[in-house]
Amino acid sequence: MRIWPLSACILLYCFLQNGHGYERTPHTNGILRGPYLQFATPYSMYVVWRTDERIDPKVRFGTELEKLDRQSTAEAITTRYGTTNKHVSLPAGVVRLHSAPEGCYQYDAQLTNLAPDTLYYYAVFNGERRLTDCSSSYFFRTQPLPGTPKPMRIWVVGDSGTGRPTQFNVQSSMMDWIKAENHPLDFYIHVGDMAYSRGRDVEFQSRFFDMYDATLRNTVCWPAMGNHEGATSKGTNGVGPYYDAYVLPTRGEAGGVPSGTEAYYAFDYGRTHFICLDSHDLDRKPTGTMATWLKADLEQASADWLVAYFHHPPYTKGSHDSDREKQLIEMRRYIMPILEAGGVDLVLTGHSHIYERSMLMDGAYDTPTVSENAILDDGDGDPKGDGPYRKPPGIHANQGTVQIVAGHGGTTLRRKATMPVMKKIIVEHGSVLIDIEGDQLTGRMVNKFGELRDTFSIVKRTNVELARLVAPWQPEPWKAEAGDGKDASAEPPEDYIEVIPKHAEWRYLAGKNPKGGAEWTKKDYDDSDWEVGEAGFGYADNDDRTVLSDMQGKYSVVYIRHDFEIEQADYVADIGLMINFDDAFVAYLNGKEVARVGVKGSGKDAKEIKQHDATGRYAYYPLKDFEKYLKDGTNVLAIEGHNASPNSHDFTLDPFLVVED
Ligand SMILES: [Fe+2]
Repeated sequence: MRIWPLSACILLYCFLQNGHGYERTPHTNGILRGPYLQFATPYSMYVVWRTDERIDPKVRFGTELEKLDRQSTAEAITTRYGTTNKHVSLPAGVVRLHSAPEGCYQYDAQLTNLAPDTLYYYAVFNGERRLTDCSSSYFFRTQPLPGTPKPMRIWVVGDSGTGRPTQFNVQSSMMDWIKAENHPLDFYIHVGDMAYSRGRDVEFQSRFFDMYDATLRNTVCWPAMGNHEGATSKGTNGVGPYYDAYVLPTRGEAGGVPSGTEAYYAFDYGRTHFICLDSHDLDRKPTGTMATWLKADLEQASADWLVAYFHHPPYTKGSHDSDREKQLIEMRRYIMPILEAGGVDLVLTGHSHIYERSMLMDGAYDTPTVSENAILDDGDGDPKGDGPYRKPPGIHANQGTVQIVAGHGGTTLRRKATMPVMKKIIVEHGSVLIDIEGDQLTGRMVNKFGELRDTFSIVKRTNVELARLVAPWQPEPWKAEAGDGKDASAEPPEDYIEVIPKHAEWRYLAGKNPKGGAEWTKKDYDDSDWEVGEAGFGYADNDDRTVLSDMQGKYSVVYIRHDFEIEQADYVADIGLMINFDDAFVAYLNGKEVARVGVKGSGKDAKEIKQHDATGRYAYYPLKDFEKYLKDGTNVLAIEGHNASPNSHDFTLDPFLVVED
C-alpha cells in the first residue's frame, strides 16, 4: 500500500504559510542545500546535500522512521568542494565543484544494497550529530525491478525557474491535487529551464532547490538541460552548475545502454523505459554520438512503454516556433524519426512557454509541420470524450506518439500561432501529471489554480490497425491580438537583454519631415544630418532627456532611428519595444512596419491620432512578423512619434528594444 506521510503534508503546509508563501524556512545545522534524492535504481539511491563546512558525512536509513539501523559507507560518499581559487589544493578524494558558494562542501552519498520497491526513511548526520529533523518527510522508495508491472506517477514541469509566485502556485496546486487523490509521486521530470536566467549556482539554489525543497527530499528529479542552464553548463564536457547539482547515470546503471555522459541517459522504471536527450548543445544529427547511442538504446529497450524527454520541442507555436528555430527543426527532422522507429509513446518537452498536447501522430518530420498524413487518431484521447488513443500492446515502430510541450511551469506565457498537430493549446500556467498503470497511460494538465485542463489516455490492449489520416481534424486558427491603431501591448519576456538600451542615444529629426518618403525607415538611409539625443524625447511632464522645447504649437511628429546588432536572427524567440509614449507611434524594423499604436497613416499624412498619456511605465509591444525582417548583423529600428495635436500640453517618446534571453 502507498503511504502519504503525514509530516510531509505538515511540512508543505508550513512551507505555504511562510512569508510571501514561496520562501522556504532557512536551512539550519549548516546545511546549505538539500538533502535531495538523485539517481534511483531498484538497489540504490543517492542522497545529496551541501554544508557550509566540512563534516564527517553519514546517511542513516531504515525501513522504520524510529529505527534507522543502516548507514552509508565512507567509500560510497563523494565529497565535493566549492572554491573559485584554482590554486587551492584539495585534500585527497575531494572533487572541485564547478561553481558553488566559496568554502561549501557537497556530499553525494550513494546508498547501496537496498531492496527494490521498498520505502526507507533517512537522516543526514555529521558524525554522531543528526543534521536533519526527525521527520517522516525524509524518505524514499527504491525503484521496482525492471519488468515488474507497477503503477507509476510522474510530475512533469518545464520552464519554471523564475523563483516567482507563479512557479510556487504551479507547484502547490499540483501538490494539493496529488494529496487530494492520496496518490504520491514516484518521481519528477524537469524538462529544462529550471534556473533562469543563466543556470548559475545561485539561481539553482533559489529557483529550484529552495522552491522544490519539500518535494526533492523524497522524490527523485530526473532532469533535462534547458538552454538557460546551457548558458553556464556544457553538455559537451558535462561541466557546470547543472552537472554539479545532478547525479545521473553514465554507464547504464539504471537501465539502458551506457551513454558515457550525464548529458543524455536512460533508465527503467517497472515496465517503462525513459530516455533523456540534450537538445541544446550537442550534435542532433543522425550520425552524431547522441543519436548513435539513442539508436543502440532503442534497439535494446524491452518495455511496455517508451517515454522520451528533452528541452526543445519538435512541434510548437508557443513562445517558440518549431518551423523556424534550428534546434527544434533538428529535433524533429533528425531525432523524431529515430524515436518513432523505436516505438516511442510519449515525448515531453518545454522551452516554449505554453501547454500544447498533440493528437496521436507519426511521421511529421517536414518543415513547416502540417497535420495531413501525420495524424493516426484525431480525437481528443479523453476516456470521457472521444475515447483513449489505442495502440497495439508492446513497443512497435511508428504506432503513434503524443507530444506534450510543458513550458508553462512559471515563466511568461506566449502563443505565436497554431501548431496544426496539436489537440489542446492552453495558454495558462500549470504542470503535467502522467500515470502509467498496466496497459494504460494517462496524462493530465492541472493549471496553477488547481483546475484540470486536459486529460488524455493511450491504451495498449488489443491489436489495432492505425493509418495516417489524409485530412485530420484541425485546431482553430489563432491570430495575435493586433491591428491598425489598436493597443497590442503584451507582457514582456521574463528575462530579456536590451539590444537598444534604455536612454540610448538615437538619431532624431524634429520640426521637419524626412526626405524620400519611407526611405528614412530603411537600414541604408543616411541620417548623418539628423540630431543626436538620448531617449526619451518630448516636452513637459519632466520625463524627457532630450527636451524638444520648440515642439509645442509648431509640429506634432518626431522621427528617431537606432541600429543594433543581432548575432543569429534565427535564434531570436521574441523581440519587442519597451516604450513610454504620448500619444501615438509607428515602429519599423529594417523598413517594415512592426508596431503601431493610436495612429493611421504615417509621417505628415498621419491622421486619427488617439490621445494616450505617458504612464511613466514602459509597455511592451512585440515586433510583429519580426521573423521575416530581422537579419544577422546590423538592423535598424525607426520610430515616428505623434502628438494628437501640435498644441497638446505634452509629448513623450521613450523607447528601448529588448530580445528574450
Ligand atoms: Fe528554453
